[in-house]
Amino acid sequence: MSSLRARIAAPEETSGHHQETRLVAAYRAKLLEEIDLAEMSALAMADRRARLERVLGHLISREGPVLSTRERDRLIRRVVDEALGLGVLEPLLEDASVTEIMVNGPDHVYVERAGRVEQVAVRFASDEQLMQTIERIVSAVNRRVDESTPMVDARLPTGERVNVIIPPLALTGPTLTIRRFPRTYTLGELLELRSLDEHTVMLLAAMVRARFNVIVSGATGSGKTTLLNALSGLIPEGERIITVEDAAELQLQQEHVVRLETRPPNIEGKGRITVRDLVRNCLRMRPDRIIVGEVRGGETLDMLQAMSTGHDGSLATVHANSAEDALTRLQTLASMSEVRVPFEALHDQINSAVDVIVQLARGADGARRVGEVAVLSSRGREPFRLATVSRFRPAPAGADGTVPGAFEHHRLPRRTAERLALAGESLPAAFGVAADDHLLISRKAE
Ligand SMILES: Nc1ncnc2c1ncn2[C@@H]1O[C@H](COP(=O)(O)OP(=O)(O)O)[C@@H](O)[C@H]1O
Ligand SMILES: [Mg+2]
Repeated sequence: MSSLRARIAAPEETSGHHQETRLVAAYRAKLLEEIDLAEMSALAMADRRARLERVLGHLISREGPVLSTRERDRLIRRVVDEALGLGVLEPLLEDASVTEIMVNGPDHVYVERAGRVEQVAVRFASDEQLMQTIERIVSAVNRRVDESTPMVDARLPTGERVNVIIPPLALTGPTLTIRRFPRTYTLGELLELRSLDEHTVMLLAAMVRARFNVIVSGATGSGKTTLLNALSGLIPEGERIITVEDAAELQLQQEHVVRLETRPPNIEGKGRITVRDLVRNCLRMRPDRIIVGEVRGGETLDMLQAMSTGHDGSLATVHANSAEDALTRLQTLASMSEVRVPFEALHDQINSAVDVIVQLARGADGARRVGEVAVLSSRGREPFRLATVSRFRPAPAGADGTVPGAFEHHRLPRRTAERLALAGESLPAAFGVAADDHLLISRKAE
């Protein structure tokens, strides 16, 4: 890595900077001598920080150099940041508005806030210091990173996913990407944001409790995972929930939850565990509900089969731009399974598995909303038929660029209403029931 170091020789590093870096290293070593690591690890993050700051404060006033209050505070902060493992990245992780942290070598640190990437004035002293941070992260999960394993996925103790790739594969220096957990929203909070209205919330709540199979559909970043998480909060305590995800993001509140996550192949290309493997395995785990983070391939067939054979009340997301698009996506994805099922049979499978599609849309104003709730009313091998029961109807944009639309509510197919009633759920007054299918806001979809 010496050529790299030469390239990043930092002309702006002042001797003061060097001196501070030396002090940080010295005090970090002293601090580690003073504290009891086992005891520390039992403390919550905020308490750990407070404890380290106190011990360090004593150390510096006892034997330290003469420093201004500002210098002293800065020194304490840097030493503690490093001791806690993430060094200069620690403040970025504490910043709730940061969703992703990207380190491209010691001098280039970027963050994503509200979907926008910006460079931040954070830097590591050297390649070595960055590598130390990386090594602390990966060794905490018993992995190592070196020339023979130059790519590693890991997880911080707080749950964030970390990817590391180092030279010679990364030409710009040790590279670290940390994906923060996006914050979760309850349905109440989504209601406050006007992402959906109270009648739709009540309907979806009744459907989840009544064990409807729900597909949340939308584009990337439209809020599928966020809504899935909020909806799963309505599953009654005491049911056995199994979640299957490619990259675990869901944060369920219930006690009885088993979380499964896929695993990429190792360096020899072995040991890969797919969403499909996990969905199949989870059928042998006596689930009351199966939640699949996002279906992307052949596992869709397994999920649909599970949904239509007793594991009702399941939830999943799919990447699609409309409710009818979601159905054709599911059909295409299911056909990617190595189990060959005729296309018409997949149609049947979807008709009997899927009860409702919640379509998310981003408005012209950028707001994320439930654009439509559509009930799948077709059966057997009939062409798909969707009945719109709730929809957001945008009005022309206001002067301030916001979309002052309104949520509309329509009649439910009689069968849907009966199923809710049977489960002891009352239908929110805004909806009504269609005595005859002609009274539905219904459309065919191929
Ligand atoms: N209704 C909402 N209002 C505001 N922000 C939201 C909403 N839903 C999701 N977000 C935010 O949008 C980002 C993408 O959401 P996410 O659920 O991961 O989308 P998807 O799963 O569709 O890719 C996250 O940062 C999330 O916190
Ligand atoms: Mg998602």
